[in-house]
Amino acid sequence: MLRDFLTTADWTREELEELIESALRFKRGENRVKPLEGRSVALVFFNPSLRTRASMQVGVFELGGNAVVLEPGGTSWTLEHREGAVMDSDKTEHVAEFVRVLGRYCVGIGVRTFAALKNWEEERTDPILNAFAKYADVPVINLESAMQHPCQALADMMTIREKLGVWRKRVLLTWAWHPKPLPMAVPNSFALSAAQMGHDVTIAHPEGYELDDELMKEIRAQAEQAGGSLSLTNNVNEAFDGAEVVYAKSWGSKNFYGAQEKDLEERAQYRHDWIVDEEKMKRTNGAIFMHCLPVRRNVIVTDGVIDSASSVVIDEAENRLHIQKAIMARVLSSSS
Ligand code: CP
Repeated sequence: MLRDFLTTADWTREELEELIESALRFKRGENRVKPLEGRSVALVFFNPSLRTRASMQVGVFELGGNAVVLEPGGTSWTLEHREGAVMDSDKTEHVAEFVRVLGRYCVGIGVRTFAALKNWEEERTDPILNAFAKYADVPVINLESAMQHPCQALADMMTIREKLGVWRKRVLLTWAWHPKPLPMAVPNSFALSAAQMGHDVTIAHPEGYELDDELMKEIRAQAEQAGGSLSLTNNVNEAFDGAEVVYAKSWGSKNFYGAQEKDLEERAQYRHDWIVDEEKMKRTNGAIFMHCLPVRRNVIVTDGVIDSASSVVIDEAENRLHIQKAIMARVLSSSS
């Protein structure tokens, strides 16, 4: 049966655990299967990338396949995704044809499509990702959409397991100041998957930077089901007390989609207080420091923290390769 990988919420905890175990076997060199031998996988990038693009290309190669990398509006035609659109403007091809054509060449399609931060009500529904999933007759893998970055989140869960074992941990997701508003995909998926894995999750952010209400209900429900917990705070210092994992990420306020200059004005007051520094890390219970990268040094995190022994950011980036091989081996092996 065709199975997409769009959000970890579509996968049970047991299935996520199996993916992490499979990724650990790939990492240890115990799994040398080539399920993509003689097959191709399309990787569609609307936005820039280092880790996702490189690790997916290497991952497809290591599974025996060939990666077809496309950049709509660059190396392929500009793409329309709206139903019933009258395409008399700047969009040349519709997703309806684009993904079905790719499905005749490739056994799966990975897609990266960030939020434009223009229209919250629209973008919170992940319209471009869902258009890909709707029309594709091969599995679609989310390589970061407007609202989710599940490959990053599973690599993060794998990294926590590697560094701290299988036990329930006190995990802090902390907002950070950044010179421009960023999408919420990484914090959304990190908090969701940490809740699914049964951790005690704290989310710290300034007032006005709340994550999506429906997603928060899902995170709370997943935490309860998995035997973990969820707490929220606006106190950036107390948030660090006793944490075993510190995950830093900046994101824009949903109140300011389409009004980014207001977001910039609002966040200016938090510039110095919300950086992850040595003083805050001292409040933790020997926490590891995590960030998905790219990261702005001495803005999100000090050199002293990111260069310390507690920083695991390079391991997280490496684990993108192993977890994506596990995901591709799982969802693309059985497709024709
Ligand atoms: N973390 C992450 O997705 O990195 P890239 O944006 O470089 O792919």
